[in-house]
This record gives sequence, C-alpha cells and structure tokens, in this order.
Amino acid sequence: MAQRRIGLIGYGDVSVVHVGAIEAIDGLELVGIADIDPTARERAAATGLPTFTSAEELIDVLGPDAVHVTTPHDQHIGPSLAALERGVHVLQEKPLAHTLAEGERLVEALAAVPARRADGGAGAPKVAICFQNRYNRGSQELRRLLASGELGAVRGAYASVVWSRTAEYYAAKPWRGRWETAGGGLLINQAIHTLDLVQWLLGPVERTEGLVSQKKFAGVVETEDTADLVLHHASGITTTFYATLTAPVARPVELEVETDNAYLEVRSGSVGGLTVRWKDGRVDTFSDRVATAGGRSYWGVSHEELIRDFYAGLDSEGPFWIGPAEAMDSLRILKEAYRSSGVGN
Ligand SMILES: NC(=O)c1ccc[n+]([C@@H]2O[C@H](COP(=O)([O-])OP(=O)(O)OC[C@H]3O[C@@H](n4cnc5c(N)ncnc54)[C@H](O)[C@@H]3O)[C@@H](O)[C@H]2O)c1
Repeated sequence: MAQRRIGLIGYGDVSVVHVGAIEAIDGLELVGIADIDPTARERAAATGLPTFTSAEELIDVLGPDAVHVTTPHDQHIGPSLAALERGVHVLQEKPLAHTLAEGERLVEALAAVPARRADGGAGAPKVAICFQNRYNRGSQELRRLLASGELGAVRGAYASVVWSRTAEYYAAKPWRGRWETAGGGLLINQAIHTLDLVQWLLGPVERTEGLVSQKKFAGVVETEDTADLVLHHASGITTTFYATLTAPVARPVELEVETDNAYLEVRSGSVGGLTVRWKDGRVDTFSDRVATAGGRSYWGVSHEELIRDFYAGLDSEGPFWIGPAEAMDSLRILKEAYRSSGVGN
C-alpha cells in the first residue's frame, strides 16, 4: 500500500484505538496530533510527534494525506470540513454529528467535492464514518445470508443494548450526556452502532415510535440513559429495540431476526458472532474475530478492519461505502426518537 501520512485530531479515550490501528497497518504513519486541551497536547508530545492546537494548523503545517477525527460529537464537523476543504481524506468517529443540520453540512460538502476537481473526482478526498460493527464477522455473515435468499422473507427483529455506565464516566468527560455537546445520550453515543446495523441489515427505517427516559442518571446528565423503541422499516417489518446504560454489568449486544426459514442471533461482546437456527433443525455458527495478543478489545478489532479497508481503497474511484450520507440514517432514527419523546436538539 502507498505510504499514507496521517494526522490525529483529538487525543482522548478512543484515539488509542486509532493509534494502535495506524501502527498495526503497513504503509500508515502517524505524523502529528492536534488537541485543543493543553493536557492532552502534553500527553501527545510525549509520543515525540509534533502537536497542534487545531485541525487547520496540523493540516497546513504537515500536509497529511488523511486525518482521523476523534473529537466530541459537536466537534466532528469543523475538523472534518477543514480537512475536506484542503483535499485531505477524513476518517471520522461516529456519530456523524450532534445535530442533523451539522451532519447535512458534511454530506453536502462531500457531494460538492468531485465537481470541484478537474479530473472529475478520481483521487478526490474520501470520508469514512466509524461504524466498525459492520465489519464484525457476525454482521457480515448475516448481511450475506440475507442477500442470498436462503433465509426467505424477514418477519421481524429485536435488538438490545444493555450496558453499564457510572457517574464517573460522565464526570471524566463533561461533553458526554449534554444536549449541546453530545446531541443526546445512550442512543447517539452507544446504541447508535446497533441502530446503524439494524437499518443496514434490514433496510431503511421510515418511522420510529418510542420513548427515551432517564432511569438512573437524572441529575448526572441531561440526556437519556434508557430507550424503548419500535422501528418501522420501509419493507413493512418492525424491529423492537431496547437500550439502557443502567445495568450493573454489561450484557452482549443482541440482534435477533426471524425469517421464513431461520432464527438468527447476532451477539457482540467479548465473545460474539452469529448463530443461525434453521427451522429444519440445522444450526450454523460464525464467530467474531477476537483480539490477538496486546489486549485490544473486540471493538478495536473491527475498528482496525474498517481503517485497513478505508486506506486499501483510497486510490479507487467513488466514495467510501460508509460515508456521511450513510451515517445520516442512524442519526435520523435517533433524532426522531428524541422528537417523539419531546427532548433533544
Ligand atoms: N466507534 C466507537 O466504537 C467509539 C468508541 C468510543 C468513542 N467513540 C467516539 O469518539 C469520539 C471521541 O470520544 P472519546 O471518548 O475519545 O472523547 P474524549 O473526550 O476522551 O476525547 C476527545 C478529545 O478531543 C479533544 N478535542 C475537543 N475538541 C477538539 C477540537 N475542536 N480539535 C481538536 N481536539 C479537540 C478533547 O480535548 C479530547 O482530548 C466521540 O465522537 C465518541 O462518540 C467511538
């Protein structure tokens, strides 16, 4: 693979996964780190790399091929637009943005990119949004089976995200759990991965009914810690969706689909994968890849897959397959859930 010079924008918790992937993938080199927080910049400087106070400064000084945007939700679009305007590829964390209007700005900017280039778009900057769970083996096998026709028609689905968070988790990073900076709570920060999978696997969601609520973290955060929803797909099926951060310990994320010919269960957690229970009695299992030595968690494994795939395709024509337009879908679903609950921005 061609050598790619990468800048990292935001040196917080998730950046560790990006740095690990960049180190693990041949042909990638981290060349600098930007963070608005002096303490984070001090930690970044300890790596020996040059540090910067903004995405603009990093890009203008170092001229990287790509930046990874790993900032809080309301700080996604600014750095991503700055990169795109300078012809630099972007790999941005989820969600697309903290509001639909902000998300649309990146969708529109990316759509305008090829038109601005004399060569009609080949080599134009690409944008990836980190929905790495689409790379889990269980998700990929389910997608393949659904497309194969072997399963018959889909009858309906159920998904749950039952996880645990503490007051300390929010106190450590005050942007979390606030409408203005996070754009929501559990749905936009954690359950968004599963919302994305549900609509990617089972088709577009036309309407979302349901309620978000605070069951444990009232007074700690402004946003929801629990959601129960029904997603009405364009195909006519529904997905019943339950998510909460109030559990004492995290359970594996579950997605169960019934079709004419099988019951399918996707689990993701420290041990995950797909189990297919055919109605004729056969059972097939597909295990997710697990972290190798070095202790990176399961979500790090799929993160690395997405990052590898993004760079492998940079020289090809056309957009990356999970870009801003695709990332709008999960954002629309969860914003509708907020609207129908009378909360949100
Ligand atoms: N894909 C996943 O599974 C996954 C997992 C965890 C977090 N995330 C996402 O990653 C993002 C970051 O989360 P985190 O937990 O690492 O947050 P964090 O608060 O730990 O880190 C964010 C860093 O960005 C810096 N920052 C803020 N605004 C900036 C700006 N304009 N320019 C440069 N730096 C800026 C902050 O100072 C901080 O150091 C969020 O969008 C979150 O949803 C994704």
